[in-house]
Amino acid sequence: MSILNIEHVTKKFGGFTALNDVSLNVEKGEAVAIIGSSGSGKSTLLRCVNNLERVTTGKITVDGKVLVDTVDGKAVYPKEAEIRTICTKTGMVFQHFNLFPHLSCIDNITSAPINVLKIPAEQARVEAMRLLGVVGLTEKADSYPAQLSGGQKQRVAIARALAMNPQIMLFDEPTSALDPETTNEVVSTIQKLVEQKITMLIVTHDMRFARNSATRVIFMDEGSIIEQNTPDKLFNHPENPRLQAFLNSIH
Ligand SMILES: Nc1ncnc2c1ncn2[C@@H]1O[C@H](COP(=O)(O)OP(=O)(O)OP(=O)(O)O)[C@@H](O)[C@H]1O
Ligand SMILES: [Mg+2]
Repeated sequence: MSILNIEHVTKKFGGFTALNDVSLNVEKGEAVAIIGSSGSGKSTLLRCVNNLERVTTGKITVDGKVLVDTVDGKAVYPKEAEIRTICTKTGMVFQHFNLFPHLSCIDNITSAPINVLKIPAEQARVEAMRLLGVVGLTEKADSYPAQLSGGQKQRVAIARALAMNPQIMLFDEPTSALDPETTNEVVSTIQKLVEQKITMLIVTHDMRFARNSATRVIFMDEGSIIEQNTPDKLFNHPENPRLQAFLNSIH
């Protein structure tokens, strides 16, 4: 079952083409990693899926609901309320944790389920404690973000995104602001989600994660998907010279 379908998406910033005719389908249970050099359009692609950017042309469908389609060469979006509903199907985790500093961890996690999904507070709290268990931070429920390490903040951010029960998790370089040690704890948390078959699209510079945990790896260059394959084939038998050059440059 297709959870995310991106068809011929182009995104321009003025005269600059950040995404050039990108098509990508993510099936339920897949963990798709996106790699590529700086400026290749990886973040822009995630931001278009989460409506933080609007596409110039193309079509995006999330869990069967059309976020945007193109009519007569123009991108057409549904009404705001419908867009918001579609966006609750995607959970986004950014490079910089974006927790609410004035809320405890548990309140960070329950705030959207209570206010947006209208889930009763006690039920939201029980679910939040379960999710804190998933990310290994039950004992930090009442701590504030300032009292946590970078890796812990990121794990709370992951729990907060999961609390909305998204159909797909979008990660934009979730470990690149972390030191190697805390990177490992966040990577193993995400690996656990992969094992639980949580569908995800993850932009990463962490080639170990892409190689060991992703079910598919996508290489982007200058706004296009140039090659995609299983981790084994993509890393061990890269075909496109630009992918070969990229892989050589990071080893
Ligand atoms: N709001 C914007 N206005 C103008 N240009 C933008 C904007 N956002 C992104 N770009 C340009 O689009 C291109 C793709 O940017 P994007 O952030 O998607 O790259 P990226 O692959 O995520 O890079 P990195 O690995 O450095 O995060 C870049 O050249 C960037 O300068
Ligand atoms: Mg980026």
